[in-house]
Amino acid sequence: MSDGTHRFFGHVIDGEECASADGRRFETVDPWRRAPWAEVALGGAADVDRAVAAARRAFDEGPWPRMGSAERGRLLHRFADLIEAHAEELAQADTTDMGKPITETRGKDVPRTAANFRFFADHARLTAAEALPSDTGHHVYTRYEPAGVVAAIAPWNFPLMMASWKVAPALAWGNTVVLKPAEQSPASATLLAKLAVEAGIPAGVLNVVHGFGGDGAGQALTEHPDVDRITFTGESATGRVISAAAARNLTPVSLELGGKGANLVFADADLDSAVEWSIKAIFTNAGQVCLAGSRIYVERPVYQEFLERLSKAAAALRLGAPGEESTQIGPLSSQEHYEKVRSYVELAESGEGRVVTGGLGDGWTVRPTVVADVPEDSRLVREEIFGPVVVVTPFDSEREAVELANGTPFGLNAMVFTENLHRAHRLSAALDVGTVWVNCFFVRDLRAPFGGVGDSGVGREGGTYSREFFTEPKAVVMRIAAAEAQA
Ligand code: NAI
Ligand code: MG
Repeated sequence: MSDGTHRFFGHVIDGEECASADGRRFETVDPWRRAPWAEVALGGAADVDRAVAAARRAFDEGPWPRMGSAERGRLLHRFADLIEAHAEELAQADTTDMGKPITETRGKDVPRTAANFRFFADHARLTAAEALPSDTGHHVYTRYEPAGVVAAIAPWNFPLMMASWKVAPALAWGNTVVLKPAEQSPASATLLAKLAVEAGIPAGVLNVVHGFGGDGAGQALTEHPDVDRITFTGESATGRVISAAAARNLTPVSLELGGKGANLVFADADLDSAVEWSIKAIFTNAGQVCLAGSRIYVERPVYQEFLERLSKAAAALRLGAPGEESTQIGPLSSQEHYEKVRSYVELAESGEGRVVTGGLGDGWTVRPTVVADVPEDSRLVREEIFGPVVVVTPFDSEREAVELANGTPFGLNAMVFTENLHRAHRLSAALDVGTVWVNCFFVRDLRAPFGGVGDSGVGREGGTYSREFFTEPKAVVMRIAAAEAQA
């Protein structure tokens, strides 16, 4: 196993980086080199118990929930400063762990991580709560009390950024956290939690436990009776398991699950822009994005032209070493995930569709793949591939486009490309999804609700939606005595 020269990433519990109680470790693999690059503490129930106890103590007895949002905000901004100062180390950790191009981790994921902490720090400090006008002689107002210990279970596709999307609002609203990163991409979480300590965030406020999901640290965390909230991003099937575990303790859950984003391109669209956004929507991060626009439906008069232009642009993307600045597509995140995506590419090649461009590459890479002539009931259309594979299909009417878009069990997001204002609003209302992007993709406003319909999730996060989830909203009703009663 280990030659002893690899770097080690431990849990971070109560402000200290540490090994597992039983000393066990696992290796994390660089999917470009297809070789282990670091060792990681392999957590189990005992480590989860220790981390939850530390978070519990920090919440029940420590200053964090009590110091007020201005002081918490100051510490969270200092945390964001440190994240920016350590951008290169954080970016290298994610790129080595899961193969995402360094330009993405350095240029987008790390800045967005810092921005998440800054946004929620300010949001918690600046949002108003309700005072409800009462004509019954009462003063009625709401308070948002911190919920307690938050379990955050993160996926591997945006390791640092997705962790921050959960940790930032949880901390800003005065909670303490136990984060379990994905076993495919653990390194940046250890770095993140150590920076929190360096920023002066009290010990026990942000803990990290590494390990696997089912039968591992993930399961132990979701079943723990001392956890007050569970926020999870990952596979829909895992969301069902976590939901069941949470139900036994009546723990509220927020689930951000899979997607099969429909991308509707109308004949009146600006085709240059539609092609450019469609490429970004499916090939960014090698398609390992829950929001990926993996089904493109094109109005028939422009179908052929769109398909040709999209395929040409796809074939021009540069696949290569994730550490090179010129690389646009890296390997898939792990061998297991590569095998999954490969099975879909082989299904397309076996005659389930016509592969216009792409196919398998070297190692664990898949070239940007465009498939046409696929029947709507194909697994290529119905299931989340989570790789650089897109299906392109023509449609003949707006109504048909909506039916096709709404035709899977998922409902995370959809894109609409049209220059017709009326149609843009009509479709925005008709699409059964959590987010509609019109003539763009992936543009986020952190105040907006984020989440999915159907198999894509339960609940919303972002802005006040995060506040609702990470606090216990409380009603205070106070009697105002009438003047006579005082006499
Ligand atoms: P997964 O859902 O198994 O893993 C995500 C996280 O959940 C990891 O931290 C994992 O350790 C944890 N986990 C797994 N089982 C658990 C359990 N029973 N209790 C508690 N925690 C548990 O996702 P996986 O297997 O890594 O990816 C498989 C597929 O899921 C992908 O191919 C993709 O289709 C989808 N996915 C979607 C993501 C999204 O952003 N919506 C992110 C990652 C995966
Ligand atoms: Mg899994």
